[in-house]
Amino acid sequence: MVLARNDSIVGLLTLSSIVRGAFQNAHLGYWISHAFQGAGIMTAAVGAAVNIAAVDLGLHRLEAATLVHNTASQRVLEKNGFEAYGMARAYLRIAGQWQDHRMYQRIL
Ligand SMILES: CC(C)(COP(=O)(O)OP(=O)(O)OC[C@H]1O[C@@H](n2cnc3c(N)ncnc32)[C@H](O)[C@@H]1OP(=O)(O)O)[C@@H](O)C(=O)NCCC(=O)NCCS
Repeated sequence: MVLARNDSIVGLLTLSSIVRGAFQNAHLGYWISHAFQGAGIMTAAVGAAVNIAAVDLGLHRLEAATLVHNTASQRVLEKNGFEAYGMARAYLRIAGQWQDHRMYQRIL
């Protein structure tokens, strides 16, 4: 899902690693340009992505991973009904370092 303003892309949401069968799960990722942060846009956009995942794709579960200190991203998820379910050690390589992540899920 692309967030656009005039002719510019200012944000992106992805539903990736979609697994069907008994799992019916996808991974949710997102970013928005610094100029548009703090206005509630990603909270609304994640809500729309959740709806696409549930209604259009018929998925059962979404998961998302945030850096431990990424409070803004955690708030976006919590406001959309995601629950934190654990910590994943050295989960993603960000800025050259394997970093711990707080894991979130939403059962749809
Ligand atoms: C995380 C990100 C997607 C949030 O998008 P956004 O459009 O600014 O989010 P919203 O405005 O909908 O909501 C942000 C929430 O975080 C809070 N917040 C913002 N900055 C914060 C900070 N530094 N510390 C604590 N809370 C913060 C806001 O107050 C708001 O919560 P509230 O409604 O309870 O007040 C955006 O900052 C971003 O793209 N960051 C870079 C990429 C990234 O981190 N992606 C997520 C990877 S998991």
